[in-house]
Amino acid sequence: MKVTTIIGTRPEFTKAYLVSQSLKKTRIDEYVIHTGQHYDNKLSRNIFNDVGYREPDINLNIGSGTHGWQTGKMLIGLEKILIENTPNAVIVYGDTNSALAGALTAAKLNLPVLHIEAGARSFNKEMPEEVNRIIVDHLATINCCATKRNLLQLKKEGIKKGAIFTGDVMLDLIENFKHLMLAPKLVFPKSFLLATIHRAENTDSYKRLSEIFMWLGKIEGQVVFPIHPRTKEKFKRFKIKLPKNIILISPVSYKEMLWLEMHAKKVITDSGGVQKEAYWLGVPCLTFRRETEWTETLKGGWNQLITSENHLQKGLKTKSEGKPDIAQFGNGKAVQKVIAEVIKLVK
Ligand code: UD1
Repeated sequence: MKVTTIIGTRPEFTKAYLVSQSLKKTRIDEYVIHTGQHYDNKLSRNIFNDVGYREPDINLNIGSGTHGWQTGKMLIGLEKILIENTPNAVIVYGDTNSALAGALTAAKLNLPVLHIEAGARSFNKEMPEEVNRIIVDHLATINCCATKRNLLQLKKEGIKKGAIFTGDVMLDLIENFKHLMLAPKLVFPKSFLLATIHRAENTDSYKRLSEIFMWLGKIEGQVVFPIHPRTKEKFKRFKIKLPKNIILISPVSYKEMLWLEMHAKKVITDSGGVQKEAYWLGVPCLTFRRETEWTETLKGGWNQLITSENHLQKGLKTKSEGKPDIAQFGNGKAVQKVIAEVIKLVK
């Protein structure tokens, strides 16, 4: 029995790691296709080396481009390989263009698709990820949901068969790697905030990106900012001045990111994954977005949505209440449940 896993971006490499490790213990052969959506070593090779992920069997080296171009190139490349390899099922993760292309190619070839992190919704179709995840959920044969709310959402959309609550594979990963976290090789201020910003809606216009840097610049205290290549490119192109309190660093490895999240006073982000990691680690988070897919994290003020300087200043002063309710994301055994579904699917 054979499955093909299709991944292409940094968060997919980390999400897939434990599932791939567990598949090795079964009789199922896994073939891994890297679409090449992320080609920068800091977002790709270094992440593989860091978590010790197996080498992909093939890299399509698609790279960056407009969404239609990128997805189209992936469809062409993936179709050829899936026809040659004839897997019994295809696995995709989350909401990226690589996941969309993987699910669509497989569905057109009548291959069963297993979607991990299904049912998440921001209800904002201007986000490319929202469009991707809706389509992937509706194409998939099996949808593995990270939370019960995600499962309910699929039911509301009429997906009643093949949808289950497994818990979040990213929570399993954090449990496995917590003790391996590493301080980045940098001189750190004693106390700092951690910021990551990379979403198109925050980086693609001069107005928005310069505003964000200006607001971060007014924070009392140092802000460590691992900068995504997309943000770096725009930062340079827009000739934005770097405020004195912001320490820009290159993207860090997963283990280093865990260390930074764990030791930061607060996390400021627009990433879906970082919001959840901060919540699981019990570090208050401020999210530079109008909405979040992970509304579970909002309770008790552990995560707050911010769209203005006012929100940011208020959010920095607010204290979170109670404890994060981690069990909403499963019991750290999501990977086991996913593997059981893969086995059923390929039989
Ligand atoms: C993608 C995912 C997003 C995920 C993010 C994690 C989609 C639609 N978006 O966004 O959901 O949160 O990955 O990082 O799939 N770039 C580089 N080097 C790289 C990759 C990207 O310089 O290795 C730059 C390029 O300027 C490129 C831009 O980033 O044009 C966008 O890259 P892309 O992969 O399309 O989206 P991300 O913003 O990384």
